[in-house]
Amino acid sequence: MEQRDKWATKLGLILAMAGNAIGLGNFWRFPYQLASNGGGAFMIPYFVALFFLGIPVMWIEWTTGRYGGKYGHGTLGPMFYLMARESLKPKGALIFGIIGGMLAFAVSSLLSSYYYQVIGWSAAYTYYSLTGAYFGKDTVQFFLNYVANTKAVILFWGITMVLLGIAVGQGVSRGIERWVKIMMPLLYVFAILLVIRALTLGSPVKPEWSAIKGLEYIWTPNFTALKENFFEISLAAAGQIFFTLSLGMGIIHNYASYLGPEDDVVLSGLATVSLNEFAEVILGGSLAIPIAFAYLGPEKAIEGGVGLAYMALPNVFMHMPGGRIFGAMWFLLLWFAGFTSAIATYNYLVTMFEEDLKIDRKVGTWLVFVLLFLLGLPVALDSSLAYLSELDMWVGSYFLVLLGFFDVIVGVWLFKPDNFWKELHKGAFINVPEWFKPVMVFIAPLFMIILLLGNTWNYVKMGAFSVSEAYVTEVLEYDYTPEIIGLIIKARIVILIILIIGAIEAYLAIKKKYGEELEKNEVIIKV
Ligand code: PHE
Repeated sequence: MEQRDKWATKLGLILAMAGNAIGLGNFWRFPYQLASNGGGAFMIPYFVALFFLGIPVMWIEWTTGRYGGKYGHGTLGPMFYLMARESLKPKGALIFGIIGGMLAFAVSSLLSSYYYQVIGWSAAYTYYSLTGAYFGKDTVQFFLNYVANTKAVILFWGITMVLLGIAVGQGVSRGIERWVKIMMPLLYVFAILLVIRALTLGSPVKPEWSAIKGLEYIWTPNFTALKENFFEISLAAAGQIFFTLSLGMGIIHNYASYLGPEDDVVLSGLATVSLNEFAEVILGGSLAIPIAFAYLGPEKAIEGGVGLAYMALPNVFMHMPGGRIFGAMWFLLLWFAGFTSAIATYNYLVTMFEEDLKIDRKVGTWLVFVLLFLLGLPVALDSSLAYLSELDMWVGSYFLVLLGFFDVIVGVWLFKPDNFWKELHKGAFINVPEWFKPVMVFIAPLFMIILLLGNTWNYVKMGAFSVSEAYVTEVLEYDYTPEIIGLIIKARIVILIILIIGAIEAYLAIKKKYGEELEKNEVIIKV
């Protein structure tokens, strides 16, 4: 077996994992999820989900990834197959391999197809902040004009993609690890400078508007609001935990596959969670919302929604002393955060070519480039962003929880809980307390079943499956026109095709290496 790439240093590994998790989810998605779900009401289920879902699934994905890496695999198809084999015959295990490979391919390719666009917007807005292009203009209109400007959109997205290709093409230890060692410290420095700026804004517009009021909105537990919309807020909070920790995507498994078989998982997994949560609740929470509270007032800050980062904040920067620099810093922060996450999904796809199909990494990198370009084009060309919203509805929340659920089924249950517990603790720097075992074995999967049922029920109720008028106008918030419906259908067809390709790819990858096992239906290869 050829030598697989490995993380060169512990610091590099931790920064890469933190870079993977810390993304647009922390600085763009978190603030608007928080704001539109009642602020202090959201934070209660958020911490509950972090403890009962985030930490357990993080450990499971690290353990699964390291186990797969021992056999030379960085993709989910073979990983799930190997673990499921502990309880099932190879032919039964194959099914779980196919499910895992299919979902991970769908998430890393489809999520990237729109997420990379948003990173591209950040690149553009860094530039527009420096030049003051949106200063003195209507920032909502400016944003709409920008996304309709196909040439600019493709240019900034393209530059981002080329840089991603270069970083990933250089490999794990010589590429990814080196890039994150520069970008992650810069990201923290920028974020801390911006937080200092945000908290020293005072009350520039009205005496009753201030950043501190924004912090109060977030940090005052609001049980009444939570009680009123308990289910909805809890679903959103758990969804955010999945998204921000990069769970249910295949990319934590992939990064962990470059560990040695005895490298610590417990403390490193916990470090990833801690670094991400610091960046999310402390840094991310002290930026967009408090800044918007100070300049635009509570109402506008809360209803800022998805547009908070790209439409509301530019309106602030143009009035703030030093606004060009702080604006550029904010968008460059978003770009770094997005970039170091995007490297992970990009690497997942390259790993498929490299390990499953035995194509040279350099060649695979540019094949993935073409794939991602083709998948991203419909997003770039659709200035209504309806296609993007529809993809996000399914891929950005539903698929993650589904894959997370299979993480537990395969990595804990089929692998067998005692095996899992032993595997988790191999080379561990600290022990997980015994009482946490039932959380990982029972509570986390139960939590996910409830989430899946709740989400499905919500989707049925909204008429998402039948593309009802209510779904289009109230959930996606678009006009119910043939064009929009066409875009929604197009997104669904693309999702379906990608799922089918993912399933076939996983099947072929497993058959290639374990074909003999499958034929005899007996385990042969064991390391
Ligand atoms: N955790 C990442 C974030 O918060 C999620 C992500 C990773 C999204 C990779 C896309 C690609 O943004």
